[in-house]
Amino acid sequence: METKNNIKHLAIIMDGNGRWAKAKGLPRSKGHEAGAKTIESITRFCVDHTDIKTLTLYAFSTENWKRPKSEVDFLMKLLERYLKKELRTYHEHKIRFHAIGDISKFSAKLQKLIQEIKDQTKEYDGLTQVLALNYGARDEIIRAVQKLNATTSEINEANIAQALDTPYGELDLLIRTGGERRLSNFLLWQLSYSELHFSDTPWPDFDVDELQNIIDDFKNRKRNFGGL
Ligand code: IPE
Ligand code: IPE
Ligand code: MG
Repeated sequence: METKNNIKHLAIIMDGNGRWAKAKGLPRSKGHEAGAKTIESITRFCVDHTDIKTLTLYAFSTENWKRPKSEVDFLMKLLERYLKKELRTYHEHKIRFHAIGDISKFSAKLQKLIQEIKDQTKEYDGLTQVLALNYGARDEIIRAVQKLNATTSEINEANIAQALDTPYGELDLLIRTGGERRLSNFLLWQLSYSELHFSDTPWPDFDVDELQNIIDDFKNRKRNFGGL
C-alpha cells in the first residue's frame, strides 16, 4: 500500500471577509471580525486534531495598503485586539507565534506587541502560528537577496531559502478561501511544489469539517516532485 501524505505545513489565504459581510448587509469590518474568530477555531483544530506543525495565515498583504484608510485602520486595530486576546491561547496550547512580512511599516506600538508575543512564545514547540503581515512574496524575495548581497553569500537554493522570512521547511498545502483562484503575491518561492486547494467558502464560514475534508483529500494525492 502506498504511504499517505503527511501534512506538516499548511498555509491559508484567508479571503472573502468583505463579501461575506456585504451578503449579509453588514459593513466589511464585521466580516473581518468574523474572520478573526475563524482564525481561532482553525488554529485550535490544528493543535488538537492534526499533525500540522506550522500554520501560515495571510492576514495583510503589501498591496492591502491600497484599501480605504478607514479599512486599513480597522484592520490594524483588529490585529492588535486579536493578538492581545490570543496570547492566552498561545500560552495555554504551547503555540509559538511568529510573523513574516515587513512589519517596519506598522505603528511602533503594534511592532512592539508583535515582538513581545514572539518573544514570550518562542520556546513553545506545539504548533507554530505564522501571521503574514504586510507580506508580499516579491518583497520577501527582494529582502532575501539584499540580505545575501550584504553578506556576500554564495547564491544557491539553500541560501535563498534560508534568507527568506519563512525557514519552516516545505509548504505542503495551500488553501485559498473566498472563491478566487489566484495567489495574490503569497509565498511564491515556497509554493513551488505545494498542493493547492481553492474553496468557494468565504473565510468567516470556513470550518473545521471543511478543513478535515481538504486534509483527507490531500493525504491521498499523488505528489511527484518531478519524478515518477
Ligand atoms: C480577506 O478578505 C482579508 C484581507 C485581505 C485583509 P477581504 O477583505 O479581501 O474580503 P473580500 O475579498 O473583499 O470579500
Ligand atoms: C489576499 O487577499 C490577501 C489576504 C488574504 C491578506 P486580497 O483580497 O487582498 O487579494 P486580491 O486583491 O483579491 O487579489
Ligand atoms: Mg479579498
